[in-house]
Amino acid sequence: MLRRSFRKEFPAAVRGEGVWLWDAEEKKYLDFSGSAAVNFIGHGVKEISAAMAAQANQLEFVHTSQFTTPIAEEYAYELLEFAGSNFAGGAVYFTCGGSESIETALKLARQYQVESGHAERYQVVSRTQSYHGSTLGALAVSGNRRRREIYQPMVREFAHIGMPYCYRCNYDCTDGCRNCGQEYAAELESAITEAKCAVAGFIAEPMSGATLGAVVPPPGYLQKLAEVCRSHDVLFIADEVMTGMGRTGRNFAIEHWDVTPDILVTAKGLSSGYAPLGAVIASKKVVEAIANGSGAFLHGFTYNAHPVSLAAGRTVLKYLQDHKLVEAADSTRPGSTASRLRLALESLRELKVVGDVRGLGLLWGVEFVADKQTKKPFDPQLSFAGRVGQAAVKRGLLVYPMQGCVDGIFGDHLLLAPPAVITAEEVDWAVSQLRDAIVEAAGA
Ligand SMILES: Cc1ncc(COP(=O)(O)O)c(C=O)c1O
Repeated sequence: MLRRSFRKEFPAAVRGEGVWLWDAEEKKYLDFSGSAAVNFIGHGVKEISAAMAAQANQLEFVHTSQFTTPIAEEYAYELLEFAGSNFAGGAVYFTCGGSESIETALKLARQYQVESGHAERYQVVSRTQSYHGSTLGALAVSGNRRRREIYQPMVREFAHIGMPYCYRCNYDCTDGCRNCGQEYAAELESAITEAKCAVAGFIAEPMSGATLGAVVPPPGYLQKLAEVCRSHDVLFIADEVMTGMGRTGRNFAIEHWDVTPDILVTAKGLSSGYAPLGAVIASKKVVEAIANGSGAFLHGFTYNAHPVSLAAGRTVLKYLQDHKLVEAADSTRPGSTASRLRLALESLRELKVVGDVRGLGLLWGVEFVADKQTKKPFDPQLSFAGRVGQAAVKRGLLVYPMQGCVDGIFGDHLLLAPPAVITAEEVDWAVSQLRDAIVEAAGA
């Protein structure tokens, strides 16, 4: 096993149930980050494994160049419906995860432009401090400095525009970033103009995921981006790999701002981790350009639309609808699990090293600072977020520590994204353990 680190000891996970995971030594952990914002419906749900086993028993695999399958056709319809009326008449392309889905979306945007008579359009504009995946195409459009640094010479560079980050706003706004949101969106207009009609698409996470830590966009910002895209016939690709499938209290996060992207990408919560699965949901306009043009999408993976993964995803969708988990994840709904989490996390602001608590639904970021007044970050060598993470693990709490939110190198934060089946008692227990872990790390 080529592990993520040769220096770190990894416990062996053997079992999961609800929000809990157990290792081989029977130590129990509360999964407060849903691994990496993956698990949404809880661990160990028997309906999902049963559906996967039934599908594997009946038909484990066929190649998409030879067959379609009933499960792919039915599930695609259900997902289009879940994505809302904007995607009526659209189509779904299934992959094995987020990065494959992003690659698919980038190529779909390029082919859409070619089929529409714009072969000169091939660039995809993206944002700094973003993450779209680890394959080279997805890394090219990512803005996460640490994750792309050594591979940079291998990737094709297109324009990266700035990203609004209200806690550390570049424009020193005092109006909740209403105005600076427009300034940031204007950068897209300039990037498209400078590229002289070579831009095929623009990709963005509606709400920042791991890189900035659940930063919510300012009012009017996403609407303006969508408007700029539309006016230049540039496709708007919403990367909802992390924020989709209910995580933020809406089916897709973009719904909070009433914006309609041309392509919606999702993964993680799509199968809640029960199987490798991602999906690219393309609007009618995109699908028709290809269907009425060359008639073939020039792209494919051996394992796209794998029946066993689709059985997992389809049953997860039914489960989260039957159990009203999107509602549970709505932090604006009084009495919801997510509103309990929001209030509990807000209380961490009183700690001297907690600079910001931000997020929506069941996706939250806690940013640490060495000085609250000046917002000065910790020295990256201290690995402060990592230390909080270790102190939390010791207490049986799993969180997602990250560095680089200030400028790609400086800045420490945690990403928190528990499964939507977390109870009020579990929220309270987790936040009290987290508080102790932060105090321990700050005192060390
Ligand atoms: C917003 C976003 N896009 C894409 C990806 C890549 O997904 P995967 O790791 O499944 O390839 C991630 C993974 O964290 C992500 O958060």
